[in-house]
This record gives sequence, C-alpha cells and structure tokens, in this order.
Amino acid sequence: MDNTPDPLEDLFAHNRAWSARMERDRPGFFTSLVKQQTPKYMWIGCSDSRVPANQITGLEPGEVFVHRNVANIVVHSDLNALSAIQFAVERLKVRHIMVVGHYGCSGVQAALEGARIGIADNWIRHIQDVRDRHRVMLESMPETVRADALCELNVAEQVVNVSVSTVMVDAWSRGQDVTIHGWAFGVNDGLLQDLGMTIDGSKPLEAQYRAAVQRIRYKWSKPPESAPGLPETIDQAD
Ligand code: CO
Repeated sequence: MDNTPDPLEDLFAHNRAWSARMERDRPGFFTSLVKQQTPKYMWIGCSDSRVPANQITGLEPGEVFVHRNVANIVVHSDLNALSAIQFAVERLKVRHIMVVGHYGCSGVQAALEGARIGIADNWIRHIQDVRDRHRVMLESMPETVRADALCELNVAEQVVNVSVSTVMVDAWSRGQDVTIHGWAFGVNDGLLQDLGMTIDGSKPLEAQYRAAVQRIRYKWSKPPESAPGLPETIDQAD
C-alpha cells in the first residue's frame, strides 16, 4: 500500500483548524453565514493566485462576491460574468463593483507581446483590442512601463463594459445605488490603487473613460526620473 502522505491533506488540516478557530473566537459565525450573504461589494479580478480578493482587502466570508477570470475581462456576451453581475446587483444588492487588474499580469503581458499560449489567445484577444486602440499612446511610452499601462487601460475598458451591460443599464434606470470602480493591484507591494473611475450612472460614461485614459497617459509618460531642480512637466500635450 502506498504510504506517501496525501499532499492535499494539509489543506484539509488547515481548513479544520481555521473552522475551529473561527467558531472559538466568534461563536455562531458559520450559523449566521448559512442564513444569508449580504455582501456590499462585488470583485471582478484576475484568476492569478497572487491576487486573492478577501485577503488583500481584509474582507471576511460573506462580505465580497467574487468573479475571477484570466486578466479580469468582461466580455459583452460572457454569460458567466453577466450572470454573476446580475446576481450580485439584483439579488444581493451590492453597492460597489470593483474591476481589479494587477501589475505583472501574464495575460496582459501576452496580449502586449502577441504571444501564443493556446485557447487563451482568443480570450486575451480582447486585451489586444485594447492595446490596438491605444497603440500610439503605448508606443510613445518607455517600453518598461507599457505592460503596467496596458493593465490599467484594460481595467478602464472593462469598467466601461460592466457599465454598459444590460444589468447595469437596468439597475440605474430603476434608480439602484451601485457604483463601478477601476482598481489596480501591485503584486510587488501588495497595494491597491484607485484609477479614479467612479461610475454610478449619473454622468456621461464616455467623458469619464477619456479622463481615465488621459490620467494613465500622463502617469506612465513621465520620465522615470525628472531632472533635479526642474519642475515636473507633462510632456504629452494631447
Ligand atoms: Co493576471
């Protein structure tokens, strides 16, 4: 008989310890979870194992409804994402939806380079569309920052895609209070950045998208080190 320890046994052991610790520290925690989930937030993020929604925001079970896929893409006809968004908005009545990209995303990197991976090429094609839309801007940036800039541009694009979905259009026409945000996570420092898109259905979307793209352009077009003694200038006039 094979006596090799089951490599998954650790996971079950940790799980039993966690469950016991939660119940000891907060008696009734799980019984109240069973009754209902009332998260205020929906997280749409990358599947990357380094970007765990609950852990990096300090949210507990029951506090954030999560949808993740490769490179946090929201495609107009993706029934999986749309079903998750509809459930979050119409049933759970979340107040905030955050689309969260991350720097160092291999999906974004592959899109930038036009690398061939496999089936995912067709999925990542959506990010290549974003890359192509902003090709002139990306090419004007130092090569070392293009992937980070494309990560942020992809977030801005996916915020728009969530905002124009029938689910959101209907929610806002009913007067429901739900806001879409675009964030980026730094795997290198563990910090989240708000890209400044706050879409609540009350202001024209196109203008907010363009403003976000401009901010991304300014942010990444700055020279890495400004000359000492000179004021910081923005060298991209457009
Ligand atoms: Co990623």
